[in-house]
Amino acid sequence: MTQPQQNPEVSLVPDRPVPQHIGIIMDGNGRWAKARGLPRQAGHRAGTKNIRRVLEEAVRLGIKVLTVYAFSTENWGRPQEEVKHLMWLISKSIQDELDELDANGVQIRHSGRMAGVNPQLQKDIRWAIERTRHNDRIILNVAFNYGGRAEIVDAVRHIIEDQVPPEEVDEALISSYLYTAGLPDPDLIIRTGGEYRLSNFLTWQAAYAEYYATPVFWPDFDEAELRRAVAVYQGRERRFGLVK
Ligand code: FPP
Repeated sequence: MTQPQQNPEVSLVPDRPVPQHIGIIMDGNGRWAKARGLPRQAGHRAGTKNIRRVLEEAVRLGIKVLTVYAFSTENWGRPQEEVKHLMWLISKSIQDELDELDANGVQIRHSGRMAGVNPQLQKDIRWAIERTRHNDRIILNVAFNYGGRAEIVDAVRHIIEDQVPPEEVDEALISSYLYTAGLPDPDLIIRTGGEYRLSNFLTWQAAYAEYYATPVFWPDFDEAELRRAVAVYQGRERRFGLVK
């Protein structure tokens, strides 16, 4: 796929709100690597590095929550070597980045199932969450071993376990049982890599999100690309099912 020209001169629309919460489907790592004659793993490494660049720009823009789709419940079906490498990358990122994320006021959250994840990695994730829980500059919510349908299944199981009476089940109650409990719903979902699918990402939460898709591969999605997506969002009219 031809990659578009990148333009650093993208500015936001003045006097229009920026999204509070952005979700990103970080697609195109493999194709980014292939285009450079590199192995797919190099694409995932470049994609991991890119999270920091986009997170820093999100802080500058005043965005309060960034949810990144790092590993879906379906991604276990990828070749074993690739799955192993992605697990290693996540664990290494926690080791290498946690001090700086914490020092910069980033709160880490996790959305996804812990069951099935290597016990040491589970411990590392819990530690990262615990250590950063009082930070409030931005929330980096990592969707890891995440599936939107699995999340709803888990929520329903917990609601039943808690013996919630049926008449008390409403949208707010369901939201409070999701992995994202307490977070605002995403205002904007960005998908890089040129495809137009939600891929089981924030299935419940994205009901009224604006959607932005770009052909740019995730490792190339830089500060200007984020500003471009936010500027497009600012130009949209959100009606939430109402008339203007
Ligand atoms: C999609 O690219 C990307 C993924 C399945 C994984 C994204 C994961 C990271 C960027 C690393 C996450 C790390 C941390 C620390 C949160 P693809 O492999 O589907 O690309 P392709 O469509 O070009 O093959």
